Amino acid sequence: MPFYEDLKVFTGNAHRKLAMDICSYLDIPLGNCEVFKFSNDNTFVRILENIREQDVFLVQPIAYPVNDHLMELLIMIDAAKRASAGRITAVVPYFAYARSDKKDQPRVPITARLVANLIETAGADRVLTLELHAGQIQGFFNIPLDELSAIPRLAQDFKNRDVGNDIVVVATDAGDAKRARNMAQRLDAPLAIVEKVRLGNQERVESTTLIGDVRDKSAIIVDDEIGTGGTVIATANTIRSRGARDIYCYAAHPVLSGEAARVLENSIIKELVVTDSLPIPAEKMGKKTSLISVAPLLGEAIQRIHSGTSVGAMFNGGSA
Ligand code: R5P
Repeated sequence: MPFYEDLKVFTGNAHRKLAMDICSYLDIPLGNCEVFKFSNDNTFVRILENIREQDVFLVQPIAYPVNDHLMELLIMIDAAKRASAGRITAVVPYFAYARSDKKDQPRVPITARLVANLIETAGADRVLTLELHAGQIQGFFNIPLDELSAIPRLAQDFKNRDVGNDIVVVATDAGDAKRARNMAQRLDAPLAIVEKVRLGNQERVESTTLIGDVRDKSAIIVDDEIGTGGTVIATANTIRSRGARDIYCYAAHPVLSGEAARVLENSIIKELVVTDSLPIPAEKMGKKTSLISVAPLLGEAIQRIHSGTSVGAMFNGGSA
């Protein structure tokens, strides 16, 4: 028996389709609210139905334009709080600013921590998110947070392709090896790691050193997000120069900033598989790109949070 009254889902302007797909999974209508900007650039939110004492889920990936959508999320949380919601869960399938999670240069902020503080201060009681850049970001919150993994869905997609057994999973960076290892275990494949060097704050990367064997194998590059595409393309070029055959790229979040979509389309990557954690504008949806929906995953987690059943059991064969 759920502790809170009715479950309600609302969304801002970041990714309405995902919110509607989540509601289809849950078999409930999307909650009615208006979220828009006045001519003075100030965002306004009004929830257009009663949510008193209800279990409210606000679906809003922090998609481009990032600062507008973050602000929408914060204002929606505030509106829900002031409307006496019983509990507010911020459902943030893509957590922007996540790469700013440490002080790795003098006089820089830890913006991921700042964003976590903002969400909490606005009044969220819980957070539901997907495939964080680094798991440690969970600790930036002092409220309960559930992080879902996209890897089981991505691994299943690759299995369905029936590419054969001569495969290798490739991490784009030593820091990302854990995610790739998770994929490799699910595919029963060996792991290789390419060392990535970022060139200052220029959004340019170089990949050179390869640990592991990719020769004559089909390779599956795994990353949390595709920004400019520079990381996965540099990784692909490195492993091709060491003999990798077909190169597939799997990532949770299609940020696809700037020219990424075009550059990836013209790259040696054979196929790019991403989730719908973020919207992809039609002009960025290349022929090589395919989408896996995370709406059922998020919908199931929302249902479980609402009913007080285990979310972890979704990933470990049913045991809590
Ligand atoms: C960074 O460490 C992440 O795991 C991704 O590799 C990175 O965000 C991808 O960015 P880009 O596509 O711009 O290289």
